Amino acid sequence: MTRSMDKIVALCKRRGFIFQNSEIYGGQNGFWDYGPLGTELKRNVRDVWYQDMILAHNELLQDAGAPSTYQMVGLESAIVMHPQVWKCSGHYDLFHDMMVDCRACKGRFRQDHMADTPCPLKPSKTVGEHKTCELTEPREFNLMMKTIIGALGTEEDAAYLRPETAQGIFVNFRNVVDSSRVKLPFGICQVGKSFRNEITPRNFTFRSREFEQMEIEFFCHPDQSRDWYTYWRDRRYNWYLNLGISKDHLILRDHDAEELAHYSVGTADIEYAFPFLGEGEYGELEGIAHRGDFDLRSHQEGKLSKNQDGELEVERTAEGQPKYRGSGKDLTYFDDQSRERFLPHVIEPSAGADRGTLAFLCDAYFEDQQPDEKGKMQERIVMRFHPRIAPVKVAVFPLTKKDGMPERAAALFGEIKQAGLSCQYDQQGRIGRRYRRQDEIGTPFCLTVDDETATDNCVTLRDRDTLEQERIPVDRVTDEILQRLKA
Ligand code: GAP
Repeated sequence: MTRSMDKIVALCKRRGFIFQNSEIYGGQNGFWDYGPLGTELKRNVRDVWYQDMILAHNELLQDAGAPSTYQMVGLESAIVMHPQVWKCSGHYDLFHDMMVDCRACKGRFRQDHMADTPCPLKPSKTVGEHKTCELTEPREFNLMMKTIIGALGTEEDAAYLRPETAQGIFVNFRNVVDSSRVKLPFGICQVGKSFRNEITPRNFTFRSREFEQMEIEFFCHPDQSRDWYTYWRDRRYNWYLNLGISKDHLILRDHDAEELAHYSVGTADIEYAFPFLGEGEYGELEGIAHRGDFDLRSHQEGKLSKNQDGELEVERTAEGQPKYRGSGKDLTYFDDQSRERFLPHVIEPSAGADRGTLAFLCDAYFEDQQPDEKGKMQERIVMRFHPRIAPVKVAVFPLTKKDGMPERAAALFGEIKQAGLSCQYDQQGRIGRRYRRQDEIGTPFCLTVDDETATDNCVTLRDRDTLEQERIPVDRVTDEILQRLKA
């Protein structure tokens, strides 16, 4: 079976995972809406991340591979922040792509994407290849989305929608240390929307203008930062594998020395073989970066840049003033055991919730053949989501609409809903068709109430992947499902 992006996109629309934003008005490029099933799927991705990284983390035990025990806490900062944040972080000056316009087709293109972007006037050629193409010189285009705050609407009221959630964490570092009694090493985690005015949003939700990130800023002693970097790189890679992403489709790519930011001792990307890419190509799902003390220092002292000796120092104007002043607040950490004061180093595992959701969708897609009730082989699409990620966990069917089966099935359905599990009730059509409908949305477990249920008080539990069917006592069903979801 070849995984095709067209089939996955079609399934997403047909079954209500993902829709084009504002579709009835022709769509808004780079923005996407999640339908009923997509909402559950993406919510599960976020929740499982939060559960695994924060809620289930035991700060009293040392994790395998971790240099020591550590703490993890959450944060929710606002999307719009003080404009000085972006000046000191470097986004105001440096967060741009090179853009090229074509006077012939009026298109606007990212310079580094031109070689694989079809020419709008002649799609068999790429941008710049057609004889009528009239390209401008490349110029910088800042990706931050601008907005105006307040009623006056002047340029002084300009602010930006955050292009990453990370800066909300850095500027709250002092607040968290002072308010929550965390001790180094610890991580502050945030899930939330980010916005980037991408020049060429494309490949379904992969490159969007509005998307969600799941970011950890992990603060540690500089001497331990290399070991923490290795720990987080491996931990985050394994997170995707444990949630069912195939090892054949996932790589951990260490950046070459030339790719590294000047303050970083290491960065790795977790990359997935998305079906819209060529053979052997991978797209970034998550980056794990060693950021040194760059961010805390920038917000303390002002925007940093490299001097002639390659050292970071506050960037200055011709008059010798800081180009962008920092907050002037003390963002150092005092270790009351060692009596040492220092700026912590940061390891940043930064994941995309939408890209993660897209990878889970792509990896789950399978086509096979299964016999129907008459033993005739039928094509089946099955979404093999890991049960923790699956948007619907269980479906309940009465075999027929008579002999009290719908009433028993409805009671069981109510019980499962009460347990907080996403569950569907379906009594329409032949049982085989009902299984296919659930397979297509990736429901791991189906329960059928049949004519024997009245006497043996059992239902049939059918497993989506093994197709095995077993009888389970009705009063044990919810526990059994909860147990299987944990496995
Ligand atoms: N704070 C670091 C940071 O933002 P990034 O590599 O620019 O790093 C992190 O973004 C993750 O956010 C990416 O690995 C990707 O999953 C997601 N992401 C970035 N830009 C995106 C876009 N335009 N559309 C969807 N997801 C995006």
